[in-house]
Amino acid sequence: MRIGVPAQDPGQPLVASTPDTVGKLIKLGYEVVVQHGAGALARFPDAQYEAAGATLVDEHEVWGSDIVLSLDAPAAAHLGLMHPGATLIARLGPARNPELLEDLRTTGVTALAMDVVPRISRAQAMDVLSSQANLGGYRAIVEAAEAYGRTFTGQVTAAGKMPPANVYVIGAGVAGLAAIGTAHSMGAEVTATDVRPEVAEQVESMGARFVAIPTQQEEVSTDGYAKEMDEDQATAANRLYASQSAKSDIVVTTANIPGRAAPILLDADAIAAMRPGSVIVDMAAGNGGNTALTVPHQQITTDNGVIIIGYTDLAARLPTQSSQLYGQNIVNLLKLMTPGKDGEIALDLEDEIIRSITVTTGGDLLWPPPKVAVSVVRPPANADEELTPAERAAQAAHEAQAAARKKRNSTIGWSVAALVLIALVLVTPSLASASYIVLMLAIVVGFYVITNVTHSLHTPLMSVTNAISGIILVGAILQVGSSSLTVSILSFVAIVVASINIFGGFTVTHRMLAMFRKD
Ligand code: NAI
Repeated sequence: MRIGVPAQDPGQPLVASTPDTVGKLIKLGYEVVVQHGAGALARFPDAQYEAAGATLVDEHEVWGSDIVLSLDAPAAAHLGLMHPGATLIARLGPARNPELLEDLRTTGVTALAMDVVPRISRAQAMDVLSSQANLGGYRAIVEAAEAYGRTFTGQVTAAGKMPPANVYVIGAGVAGLAAIGTAHSMGAEVTATDVRPEVAEQVESMGARFVAIPTQQEEVSTDGYAKEMDEDQATAANRLYASQSAKSDIVVTTANIPGRAAPILLDADAIAAMRPGSVIVDMAAGNGGNTALTVPHQQITTDNGVIIIGYTDLAARLPTQSSQLYGQNIVNLLKLMTPGKDGEIALDLEDEIIRSITVTTGGDLLWPPPKVAVSVVRPPANADEELTPAERAAQAAHEAQAAARKKRNSTIGWSVAALVLIALVLVTPSLASASYIVLMLAIVVGFYVITNVTHSLHTPLMSVTNAISGIILVGAILQVGSSSLTVSILSFVAIVVASINIFGGFTVTHRMLAMFRKD
């Protein structure tokens, strides 16, 4: 089949396939045609596409392909050039564009909406909203840094002391986390808030402090997105946003609830209470904005000197990389849809990803798709109250049985360990008993130390265990020739296990370092 990569409408600097991703599409068995100049604004000249194996064609030919890759919904004139049965892959905003869906249906094309990929782990590699929001969050901080008249990092110089900038991020989804990571790496002190309680750990792992809303949503989200807050929660939250923003130099707002206008997080009073020179980047500007004063597409300065940036093209301000990530998302989708790697697309509507993004096919409208749940939902807080007395008694009996079983297993485990230790003390010379006591203490101390080490410190911990294994190895080599068979066997086992740890540790470290190495 032939894939067409058209030039985008004026104002859209991205391109749906880069020379790199063209090469990957050709490896999947497709023939690729690219419209002259399609990648110019994203800094991909025609010659690079030709070198990657694509053929350069005109507008008519590109839109007449079997599969057309686009950024956004095509203009009516372009849609008219597509033939029935062809496949269109683009960001179509199906929930907002009923007329477009009708046009796509009557044209008879199979339309796949890249912007409604479900947020499940298997689909992450195809999620264009995430890949673009990630770059958008990075760029939001770059824009803020440009508008803010000071440095992000604190410094002590001969000429005086400069405090670090305080950055406050509201909404710690994909864009928010990218903004947090970028601001933190530039030396700012970052705080963040989100209505979803499950993101607190992610916020902290990116180097920010999580400030919780007093009446936070209790449930873990089922689709990776937030739900609308009730009035009390929204009032408490907005009070928190106002007080935090008044203390901050830079505020990035990213609050987003799919299918709804963006919630207003900062009203005119909250902005009036901010310091002159502080900057707000409202990433939700394209969806109505998270502040009462945001002007979409523009940077404005309020009467009290607060700069509000409402750009809606933050990811597109990094066109080369945005195009590459978008193109790679499409390659990942086409890998899924080309199981034979034979250049033939297969529309498997049994696959939940494909079903979720297929909005029209063969003259049928398939929107909206069935809902896909992505994360475990905790039982409601009052689940207990919904049980009958008999069910509650059965549940209590079941829990008691499970607890008793756990206690019995643990008693058996500890008894076996104690018996093994006593046996070892009895069969080995009395001099060795002091060593066994040391061993016992080492096991207990080691258990508590290792189980309390946070994940981020596992790599240094691995180095320490490598050092310990080295000591074990030396000791075991000295003992392996002992006249006692037991000592020789134990030494041999120690040599094998310590070697596995040392060489395994080096292999893992080598692999990790390779991930940071540039080809
Ligand atoms: P997301 O859904 O992953 O993250 C949004 C976060 O906001 C979620 O964690 C959600 O729990 C949180 N949230 C929702 N309501 C909230 C509230 N009232 N208070 C606090 N937190 C709240 O979305 P993603 O992908 O991070 O995108 C964020 C926004 O940025 C979207 O509106 C998206 O359209 C926009 N965006 C804008 C760009 C631009 O150029 N301006 C570029 C890329 C994304």
